[in-house]
Amino acid sequence: MHIDPAEKRWAILTLVVAFSMMGVLAGYAINDNINPPSNVETIDSTRLHLTREFNEDNLGVHQQKDGSIRVVMVAARYGFFPNHLVVPADTPVTFRIASADVLHGVHTPNTNMNTMVVPGYVSEVTTTFPHPGDYSMLCNEYCGLGHDFMWSRLKVVPADQFKVGG
Ligand code: CUA
Repeated sequence: MHIDPAEKRWAILTLVVAFSMMGVLAGYAINDNINPPSNVETIDSTRLHLTREFNEDNLGVHQQKDGSIRVVMVAARYGFFPNHLVVPADTPVTFRIASADVLHGVHTPNTNMNTMVVPGYVSEVTTTFPHPGDYSMLCNEYCGLGHDFMWSRLKVVPADQFKVGG
């Protein structure tokens, strides 16, 4: 089979570009500790308030016996509840987030905290924030007219200054 040399060059160039892009993506994923979602857990989004975990009184930051942090949140048009969280730095933080209505997302810029919140499922992400400071959690899935205003505050404090609710 005859392949025109020009066609061969372009085919090779295309493959080189495609593989370099894959390399860049893999590099970012490894460097920034980006992982695909792994938690598959269903929940009835219309009855969150009746569950033990996602009822209003249980939302927020909980410290576990081993010192790790568990954050229970509800995403609903147009906010995250609670909308202000304080967590310690250098400590594993597990977010458990459920949507009460439509598809939302949670993204905290400059960290690897980023997940979709799909109605009917519990999104779970465990991460550690190395740098104390003020962060925001932004909804990154278009969820309606108020989408641009759907965000909350996340304050990361040095671990020795942390206390639940503080
Ligand atoms: Cu919630 Cu966009």
